[in-house]
Formats: sequence, structure tokens, C-alpha cells
Amino acid sequence: MKTTSGSSLDKSRLPRHLAIIMDGNGRWAKSKGLPRVAGHKAGVDSVREIVRACSDLRIPVLTLYAFSTENWARPQDEVTDLMGLLAFALRREADMLDKNDVRLQAIGHIAGLPQSVRSEVERAVDKLKDNTGLLLNLALNYGARQEIVDGVNRLIAEGRKSVSADELSGALYTAGLPDPDLVIRTSGEMRVSNFLLWQIAYSELYVTPVFWPDFRREHLHAALADYQRRPRRFGGV
Ligand code: FPP
Repeated sequence: MKTTSGSSLDKSRLPRHLAIIMDGNGRWAKSKGLPRVAGHKAGVDSVREIVRACSDLRIPVLTLYAFSTENWARPQDEVTDLMGLLAFALRREADMLDKNDVRLQAIGHIAGLPQSVRSEVERAVDKLKDNTGLLLNLALNYGARQEIVDGVNRLIAEGRKSVSADELSGALYTAGLPDPDLVIRTSGEMRVSNFLLWQIAYSELYVTPVFWPDFRREHLHAALADYQRRPRRFGGV
């Protein structure tokens, strides 16, 4: 891989919102003869490094797809491991997030998560609420179709008979955030997997074969350099 240092990136053309589908934890573990949970644990190390890297680059918003509404279909043991890991990581990393001036928001059906995870999310959101740096937006028990349906139902409940695109944007979990400029997916799958379907209408997509637990700062810099080489037209010429 051609390495790109952060200093060679054009700081005026970084994404305002970067969204990442963290994929390949299971395959990473399998390739090393380890249980799947070892891949998820190693994935938390990548989360830590990428959050720090985005914060150092002054990227305003980072959304990470940590658990989808479809992930409940995994074996019960793996779901339990993932929930335990999320709660543990949120508790353990809160000080690091605070030192990096990171704010936290969770999007998805948070009420449908185990109480142990909900309370760690709430505690971390509250601890970090006055920070002014990177907004770390964690998609937890998240599904984009459900998000759109929830938004439409909210507007119907408010008495709307018809809505504009801007009104629907404002009714989504991501209300107030810029749409992602760049979506990164690790581990080579060419899919969107029910992630931010409305918001990524004009996002640039970057797929790397690297498994999430191996995805480090230099891989992020390579993705950003690739993004900066692309002309963006938003449907124009
Ligand atoms: C996809 O790999 C990864 C997940 C479903 C979980 C991602 C969650 C973490 C890395 C923990 C995040 C923690 C915090 C605090 C944000 P996969 O299991 O689908 O991999 P595979 O496709 O190779 O099986």
C-alpha cells in the first residue's frame, strides 16, 4: 500500500462527515485461528485509533456502524459478547474520548439494547456533552429503513399530509448533521447494508480489502487521499 501521511492531506478538503462500515472482524479472527469475539476485541483497538486520527485531523463528524438491527440474527453467544464489549469499551474509553475533546451521540433503537449498554451509552454521552471537538456518532441497533419509517411516522404524528426532503432529513436520527461525504467499508464487501440510506445519496464510497481489526491510521489516510483525488459533481457536470 502506498502510504499517505496526515500531513500530505489537503486540510481544507477533508470530509465534514465520515461514515464507516466496520467489517471483517470475524474473518480476521478466523484467519488467525481465533474465536470471532477476538476479532471484535481487536476491532475496538481500531476504533480507538481511528477516533484519535479523525480528531487529530479535525474531521467534524465520524459515524461508526457498530451494531445493526440485522446483527441480532447472529448466534446468541456472539450477540452477548458484542453487547458486553460495547458496554466495556464505552466505559474504558470514556476518559480517552474526553481527553480528545470528543462528543458522543448514539443513533438507532437505543431502547432495544440491553440495560447494561444503555446505561454506559447514557453515562458516556453525559460525560462528554460539553466537548467541542469530533462528534462520534455510534450507530447501535441501527437500520436505515427503520430510521426513515420512524421519521415519516413522526411527521405524520405531527399532522403532516406531505413532506419535503429537507423536512424528512430533519426527522431522521442524524438531524442537524451534514450528510456523509465519504463512506468507508472494510473487508472488501461491495454493499451498503442498510446504513444511512437517505444520507449517503451523494457520498463517495471507498471499499478496502483490509479487515477492520487491521485498519489503522495509515489506511484512513490512504482512503482520505483517494477521496481528495475525486471530483465531486452531485449530479451536475
Ligand atoms: C463486523 O464484522 C463488525 C461488527 C458487527 C461489530 C463491530 C463492533 C466493534 C468493532 C466494537 C465497536 C466498539 C465501539 C465502542 C464502537 P463481522 O463480524 O461482520 O466480520 P465478518 O464479516 O468477517 O464475519
